[in-house]
Amino acid sequence: MLETNKIYQGDVLKVLKTFPDESVHCCVTSPPYWGLRDYGVEGQLGLESTPEEYVTKMVEVFREVKRVLRKDGTLWLNLGDSYVTSHAVGTKDDDTGWKHGAISKGYQARAGGVGNGRKPKDLVGIPWMVAFALRADGWYLRQDIIWHKPNPMPESVKDRCTKAHEYIFLLSKNRKYYYDNEAIKEDAKPESEKRYKSTFHTGKKEISGQGRPGNASNTPGYKKWTGKRNKRSVWTITTKPFKGAHFAVFPEDLIEPCILAGTSPQACEICGAPWGRVVERKRFKRNEFPPSDPRYRPNVYQGAYDRINGKGDAGYTETKTIGWQPTCTCQNEGKGRCIVLDPFMGSGTTAIVALKHNRNYIGIELNPEYIKIAEKRVSELEAQETNLLNWLDELLG
Ligand SMILES: C[S@@+](CC[C@H](N)C(=O)[O-])C[C@H]1O[C@@H](n2cnc3c(N)ncnc32)[C@H](O)[C@@H]1O
Repeated sequence: MLETNKIYQGDVLKVLKTFPDESVHCCVTSPPYWGLRDYGVEGQLGLESTPEEYVTKMVEVFREVKRVLRKDGTLWLNLGDSYVTSHAVGTKDDDTGWKHGAISKGYQARAGGVGNGRKPKDLVGIPWMVAFALRADGWYLRQDIIWHKPNPMPESVKDRCTKAHEYIFLLSKNRKYYYDNEAIKEDAKPESEKRYKSTFHTGKKEISGQGRPGNASNTPGYKKWTGKRNKRSVWTITTKPFKGAHFAVFPEDLIEPCILAGTSPQACEICGAPWGRVVERKRFKRNEFPPSDPRYRPNVYQGAYDRINGKGDAGYTETKTIGWQPTCTCQNEGKGRCIVLDPFMGSGTTAIVALKHNRNYIGIELNPEYIKIAEKRVSELEAQETNLLNWLDELLG
């Protein structure tokens, strides 16, 4: 039985091998990037002398993660890229040494990368090398999510753009997997609102020969449409400075959607199956919206929409969660908790976000100093929650 809400100290591969098969729901992680940082501990990954060696290590680690994941589990893998340099591991880089800010004890950890057609200055493309290797190893490579950083690390380059993104790959163990798209829907704004105004209300692209109800912004009672849409694959998230002695810390906002989509708020206490959301879907015709809604159209439009999609409507589906239900056949009350694994736990961000959303975590970390930082963050969070509960108790008498 796997002990949860614990960070295991040790080498990722050795510790993973002690975990039982199909015991966690979701893995959210950021391994050491290749050749970028020195985490100051013997046995660390990321300092392999070639990208190929690094990829081989990553495949080994994530093969174990796959074994440990439930059949319906997903992996959310954050990776960043680096450039080929001509210097060796542990030497100072005179050309680019401080530019990338990845310095430990005055040494640039970045490890060459020349070979296999790669020359100094080439982008290694390591996130995709890893993604393709994982796919070849049996993972389903479902999506490349772009983490767009509005506050990227400054670079003094003049012959390319400043890098302002990293990747999060969504990989699944099987074709079908747990994914709660409702949990991470985003506001359909502002582009959609603008589109609704211009396309449907100013009439510029309106179906010819049909009347129209007038410009929405002139319509009395007009209010913004506050609809939701499926989350897009570019996530704009600011990096946040971290006070503790760890670099490369996830922003909590970056991994919140991964945990919310990859796990359920409740699970079967017997077999661990995540409960599924029960969603009511209602398809709306335009004339069913209140006239103050920018999507509203009077009946005169009916015929035109028939011609569009044969359904007599303009394709608006609104969803409402009406409850949660078991996805297994066990007699259960949904009192179990989903488990989020981070095999490179660092300062414990995955643990923090998991706990904030009533999920359990399980972590692995090689550096005992980082485990102390993570445990401190977890106990601070628990203390905050206890204080809040005491305060509520007092308030309610
Ligand atoms: C990019 S950091 C993870 C940061 C983390 N996401 C956070 O928010 O703090 C990668 C971590 O992997 C750890 N690490 C490196 N090699 C390891 C190994 N062989 N086994 C376990 N952990 C390792 C490093 O010590 C480092 O803390």
